[in-house]
Amino acid sequence: MVDEVKEVTEKVADLDVKGDAQEDDGTEVDPWDVKGKVDYGKLIKKFGCQAITDEHVTRIERCTGMKAHHFLKRKTFFAHRDLDQILEAKEKGQPFYLYTGRGPSSESLHLGHLVPFMFTKYLQDAFKVPLVIQLTDDEKVLWRSLGIEEAKRLARENAKDIIACGFDIDRTFLFQDFEYVGGKFYENINSIQRSVTLNQARGIFGFKGEDNIGKVAFPAVQASPALPDTFPHIFGDNKKVRCLIPCAIDQDPYFRMTRDVVPKLGYHKPALIESVFFPALQGDSGKMSSSDPNSSIFVTDTRKQIKTKINKYAFSGGQDTLEEQREKGANLDVDVPWKYLNFFMEDEEKLAEIGEAYSSGKMLTGEIKAILIDVLADMVERHQRARALVTDEIVDAFLARRPLSL
Ligand code: TRP
Repeated sequence: MVDEVKEVTEKVADLDVKGDAQEDDGTEVDPWDVKGKVDYGKLIKKFGCQAITDEHVTRIERCTGMKAHHFLKRKTFFAHRDLDQILEAKEKGQPFYLYTGRGPSSESLHLGHLVPFMFTKYLQDAFKVPLVIQLTDDEKVLWRSLGIEEAKRLARENAKDIIACGFDIDRTFLFQDFEYVGGKFYENINSIQRSVTLNQARGIFGFKGEDNIGKVAFPAVQASPALPDTFPHIFGDNKKVRCLIPCAIDQDPYFRMTRDVVPKLGYHKPALIESVFFPALQGDSGKMSSSDPNSSIFVTDTRKQIKTKINKYAFSGGQDTLEEQREKGANLDVDVPWKYLNFFMEDEEKLAEIGEAYSSGKMLTGEIKAILIDVLADMVERHQRARALVTDEIVDAFLARRPLSL
């Protein structure tokens, strides 16, 4: 069985890829909401994390022997906590593992959801380390009006999209909370729950008196996978394997809490590597959201739908008339097609040429949009081909409790 799964997941990986912090300025960033134009420099200070530097990028290239992902070079992943400790561990030949997750709130993922998984896949390939992926079906029941059965179904559907990103079956364990909570996982949840007071949880997450009590208890469920002995079939009872969590920066509050409490319990603080948000088609007002279909491109969209959405909704920093555009050029800072290309066009030189031509007025909005449509449609079609290969048996194989290659 594992051999068959491997054959398919290798095929999947080989498919050609073309392609509650309140701020004074009205921005709001917490795990449930991102509102207003986000100033990432300020967010780093506010959250107390560090910036990813060019030195990190070269150090990662040196210790993996692989070219850095463009998400690193372009600082799409721009902030971290204790990344240096992870790199030091790697340089000394000590093991670490990766942990990421997804709250299954919708049938299909949008492009923004793919970003952390694409990056995690790169990290897994570069560092050759085990990876655990949490599907928080329980979280979505507490926060959305989703039934338990529906949340469980969505978790499995989303698992297919995640597997389609090309993860290595020998090194990847996927779990959904409704199925996996129990045993050592629940013991760790319990230890974390008793270590955090309601006042602390309120301070970190902004819980209100009218919130259901499940929400207050949930952060421990997202925290526990950062403790290696939550996975006895992978790490036995070893409490000292370090953990690196790639995620979007809105997840930071969960792990700030985790880092506060776990040293007392005998573990290393988990390290983090955090990304900016993927902007909505309409531009600079927070992140792409699945609840507004016109703000998002989904991995299930057709080339035609992508074309329509980009042409109709993608906010342009280009000038209003042809003459003006030729004369002044586009404002790249607010231009959504340009931002999207920075996420998904790998070719550095081509990207630089486009930036130069568009900002100087040699290139028009319609032209950059046409380039983007091709890049996105190729990527989405690749994803759809990969996802079609992921059967229920393959999902079960990734969900099976088993040892992983360390
Ligand atoms: N809370 C996340 C969401 O709503 C899901 C999640 C669980 C996660 N564990 C994680 C995200 C670890 C990043 C890293 O999508």
